This record gives sequence, structure tokens and C-alpha cells, in this order.
Amino acid sequence: MVKRDNFASKFGVFVALAGSAVGLGNLWRFPYLIGNSGGASFIILYLAFVFLLALPIFIAEFIIGRRSQLNVFGAFDKLSNGSAWKYSGILAILCPIAILAFYNVVGGWTIDYIYKAVTFTFTTSTQEELGGLFTNSISSVFEPIFFMSLFVILTGLVVVFGVKNGIEKYSKIMMPLLVVMIVLIAIWSLSLPNSGAGVEFLLKPDFSKITTKTVIDALGQAFFSLSVGAGTIITYASYVKKGDNIVKTSSMIVLFDVFFALLAGLAIMPAVFSFGISPSEGPGLVFITLPYIFSQMPFGSVIAIIFFIILFLAAITSSISLFEVVVAYLVEEFKLSRVFSVICSIFLFIALGVLCSLSQGVWADIKWFGLCIFDFFDSLSANILMPLGGLVAALFVGWKLKRAVIVDELTSSGAVKINKALLEFLIFAIKYLAPITAIAIMIKAILS
Ligand code: PHE
Repeated sequence: MVKRDNFASKFGVFVALAGSAVGLGNLWRFPYLIGNSGGASFIILYLAFVFLLALPIFIAEFIIGRRSQLNVFGAFDKLSNGSAWKYSGILAILCPIAILAFYNVVGGWTIDYIYKAVTFTFTTSTQEELGGLFTNSISSVFEPIFFMSLFVILTGLVVVFGVKNGIEKYSKIMMPLLVVMIVLIAIWSLSLPNSGAGVEFLLKPDFSKITTKTVIDALGQAFFSLSVGAGTIITYASYVKKGDNIVKTSSMIVLFDVFFALLAGLAIMPAVFSFGISPSEGPGLVFITLPYIFSQMPFGSVIAIIFFIILFLAAITSSISLFEVVVAYLVEEFKLSRVFSVICSIFLFIALGVLCSLSQGVWADIKWFGLCIFDFFDSLSANILMPLGGLVAALFVGWKLKRAVIVDELTSSGAVKINKALLEFLIFAIKYLAPITAIAIMIKAILS
């Protein structure tokens, strides 16, 4: 029996899970989705999905992890008592692999952009030149593969030290640093002339902009941003000891993630509006528009360095959590050593990363289901595997686990008091509300 690591403190649990949640989803995906879908109305939908759907599923996954004290595959296997539910674990292993395939590539871009910021590449460029710089960088062969590989190896280096000495220790340093830096950038952004227009965009809803696509995007973003449905919450929760208040910890992490996403909006949108740039620039918003803004500002080159370091730190704490899902599986199910599991994972992720990276350039014409390889992994994970993973977790806890088990976990065997009405609501949300809404939206997404 492999001896299992545990988080050493409640703060450690919080920073690690918050580190998993806060990532490129908040800083890269959220701003351009808000920009594309009309600002405040998208944010309201996103918040509704976060609290009604993603939070109950987050809690359901926490229950699975802490109850089983095992990797995702082992968790479903143990708690399913031999029923077919145990195959859900396979989904939970595939999902983080699919996410990391493209996430590591974007993680590599963040290192590339730190390098560019440090070497003052942005200071003299026009917006067109910066657009060209981004396209050229990501579509070349060697450069993005090099930085992606570096990103994967750095992630592996943290994971190899284990939960307490690797993940917990580094998250405790990286997360507070991240918050301080993003607050500084938000203050800077809000102090720019005409920044009010950006704030208004974030606060004033225009419900006429809501379409089916906006609703689906908002749901996908709620899942992606909270790391719901990808096996990471189950894995991290399996290193949490009895005694922690699951509902409180989960709610705090969700609130923190939302707070951080809104802070990212406040850091980016006022600057975009202040420079009269359209907020609907798409995925290039953070990599093209912001460097342009930085290039126009006094001290812009320093701000650019800080910003891309933030992006990198946020990305790596998330990739660490995804990496750990796979490593925990290899260590526990195949009895491999941690070092060997990390090395195997590094090879796997670099290989997948190479496919995704080349699909931005020389392999752009290769299509899987009509999408380039990068987009294929992106939509496979965000639109299919994560919602499905979340759905399965909610159904599993709601319908397979006994009510007594759920109550035992939520109250930590009676050590934690929980309001009766809240308990009933949570069970209702996990059993009915979350699955029905998720299924309805998935059907709508398939039909539209
Ligand atoms: N939540 C992370 C982000 O916002 C991405 C992620 C998804 C991490 C799923 C882990 C699991 O970038």
C-alpha cells in the first residue's frame, strides 16, 4: 500500500484548490468571452451558473475525493461497490489529459511573453506589428514547442515533490503573489483616463445581447473556471483529512475564483476602453491588445512583465492540479514511483502539446471533427468532457451514494454543524437541479 500524502493545513487546501481554479480561464478566457458577449449580461449568467450549478457539483466532487482518499479512478471504483459507476473514473482521467494538451501550449505562450516583455519587444511596436508578433510566435515550429516543453517540465518539477512539499508549498507562495499583482494592475487600469467606460461595460447589462451561444459559453466558463468536472477537485480533496468543513471550504474557493475573475475584468477592460479598442478581439485580447496598451504607457514595460508573470503563475498552479490527477492515478493504480510517473506524464504531455502547437501553424490544415487539433482538444474538454464529468459526479453523489454518507461528509461525522435548510438545498441541487440544468443545456448545445 502506497503511503498517501496529505495537505498540512486548511490554508494549504484553500490555496491549492484556489490555485487550480484561478488560471488562464480567469485571465485569458473570461475577459475575451465578456468582450464577445456584451459585458455585464454575460457576467450575470456566468454568476448564476457558478452558484446554482458549479458550486453544488464542486461540493459533490469534494465528497467523492475526501470519502475515498484515492485517485479519481480508485475513488469511483471504491465507492461504486462494483457497479458500472466505476467506469466514470476513466472519464475523469481522460479529461485532464485533454485539457493539458492545449493548456500547456498556452502556458508556453505565457513564458514566451515574459521573455518578450523582459527584452522590451513590445515598446516600439504598433498594434498591427503586435498582432503579427503573436501570430508569428504561435505558428512557428520551434519557439512555441520549446516554451511549451519548458512549461510542462516546470509543472512536473513541482508535482514530483508531492502534495505537501511541492503543491502546497508552492501554492502558498504563488497565490498571494498573484493577488497582490492583479490588484496592482487593476488599480493602474482604473486610474487611466476614460476607464469608467470599461467599468460601465462590466456593470451595465444589455440583455438583448444574450443568445443561445452566450448561455452555453457562460456555462462552459463556469465549469472551466472552477475546474469542475475534470477530476482535479476529487484528487485534491482526497488529500484532505476529515474535519474540514466541505461546504465552507468549497464556497470560499468559488467566491475567491469569482472575485479573481471580476478583478481580472477590472484589470483589463478599463485599459481596453481607455485606449478606444474594441473589447471583442477574441482570444488575442490578452496577447495582442494588452501589449499594445502597455507599449503606450509610462512604465508600461514594467507592467507588461508583471502582467505576464501573473498569467504564468495562474496557469502553472492550474496545470499542476491537472498533472497531479494523472500522476496520482499512475502511482496508485499501477504502483509506479512518483518520479517515474512524473517523467512518463512529461513525455505524454509534451507529445500532445507538440500536436496542438503545430496545429497553430504548419499543421493548421489537419482537421479532427472539422477543428484544428488545438481547438479539438479545447472543445472536447470544455464542451463535452467537463460538463459530462460534472454531471456524472453529481449523479453519482446524488443517486449512488447513500444519503447518510453525504450527510456524514458534509458534517465531517458530526464535527461540523450545518444548517438543515442548507443541507436539504444542497442535496436537492446535487440530485436534481445540477443534473437537469446541465443535461438541458447540453441538449440545447447539440441541437443548435
Ligand atoms: N480552472 C482553470 C482555469 O481557470 C483551468 C482548469 C480546468 C484547471 C480544469 C483544472 C481543471 O484556468
